[in-house]
Amino acid sequence: MSSNTPPLSPILLMARRAAALRAEGRDVIDLTLGEPDFSPPGHVLAAAQSGLGEKLGYSPSNGIPELRRAIQTNLLLKHNLAYTNDQITVGCGAKQVIFNAFMASLRVGDEVIIPAPYWASYPDMVRMCGGTAVIVHTAPENGFRLTPEMLAGVLNERTRWVVLNAPGNPSGTLYSKDELQGLAEVLEGFPQTFVMSDDIYSHIRYTSGAYTTLAAAAPQLFERTLLVDGVSKAYAMTGWRVGWGCGPANLIGAITSVQSQNCTQTSTLSQLAAIAALSGPQGFLEERTAIYRQRRDAAMAVLRRCPALEIVEPDGAFYLFPKVKDLSNDSKLALLLLEAGVATVPGSAFGTPGHLRLSFATDEALLVEGCRRLVATLEANV
Ligand SMILES: Cc1ncc(COP(=O)(O)O)c(C=O)c1O
Repeated sequence: MSSNTPPLSPILLMARRAAALRAEGRDVIDLTLGEPDFSPPGHVLAAAQSGLGEKLGYSPSNGIPELRRAIQTNLLLKHNLAYTNDQITVGCGAKQVIFNAFMASLRVGDEVIIPAPYWASYPDMVRMCGGTAVIVHTAPENGFRLTPEMLAGVLNERTRWVVLNAPGNPSGTLYSKDELQGLAEVLEGFPQTFVMSDDIYSHIRYTSGAYTTLAAAAPQLFERTLLVDGVSKAYAMTGWRVGWGCGPANLIGAITSVQSQNCTQTSTLSQLAAIAALSGPQGFLEERTAIYRQRRDAAMAVLRRCPALEIVEPDGAFYLFPKVKDLSNDSKLALLLLEAGVATVPGSAFGTPGHLRLSFATDEALLVEGCRRLVATLEANV
């Protein structure tokens, strides 16, 4: 394989191990995957059914115009952000939009600042596209936030992108408007730097305060901010592969060119379903978030009783990221836990060794039992 072929995602590796043990008949609770256990709402499935009756030919590489209009309306309502038609592009999930953006913009030697803990795919994508991932380690004491001081310490004339993901995977971290403005002020001195605002978990939040995204909080950066979102997490449509990027027209055009040369477009049928998701009733989003919150609280109640764990309560997304005190090897611990019947992902997969990631996008009773197994294993081995 070529030298820029990345290793298999450690998340998938752990999920596969868990699946293999289950296939042998072992009782393993899988807390590895970031995949909602809900189904897409009925009106989305109905739209897909009726789409089957249409001629599903090629559609534009930047997405069906009606879908781009639905995204436009959505962002206007959510953030009061007015994107024009040529400032939006649609891809095979947020993941492909992010990859295409790096592919379209990175030259060898360009740097991409990625706060850790990070979604495991960012550094691999950067390397595949010829860039250099610059990892900035954030601290649990500060809720895993990137601070203006940290950002100022790594920005330089080679910085092409800064990645911000809020609510974050795996941290659940959110930024206030003031915090985003603080970061934006530092970025004002680096006009060649784009910001990737990965908002894929933006609907899954547990705080009552106002929520904002970088492009809205810092209008001075609008022309170099790529807002990324999609239907995977909010609408439980992971397999449908629809995500979008919104930003300056020249960057959006370049992302669309890359898209047109790899898979042309995402599935036309999936785009029809995504239009229904964005345009239909949205009440279920709050209902599902309430269920996630209840699971988060139930899992935290078990984990907090364990003195070996330190946990920052996540403000959004559906992961817990506890630190295991005095842990020398998180991968070994994850394997030990697997033997004890609970599959987790070691923190090193997210650039933050010494932690474990537990997804609570799973049934509450199983989640609580998985947390009990984790605690029992730690108590027996520490
Ligand atoms: C932070 C983050 N960004 C992007 C994605 C990709 O989402 P999609 O399914 O839209 O490609 C994920 C999926 O796990 C994620 O956790």
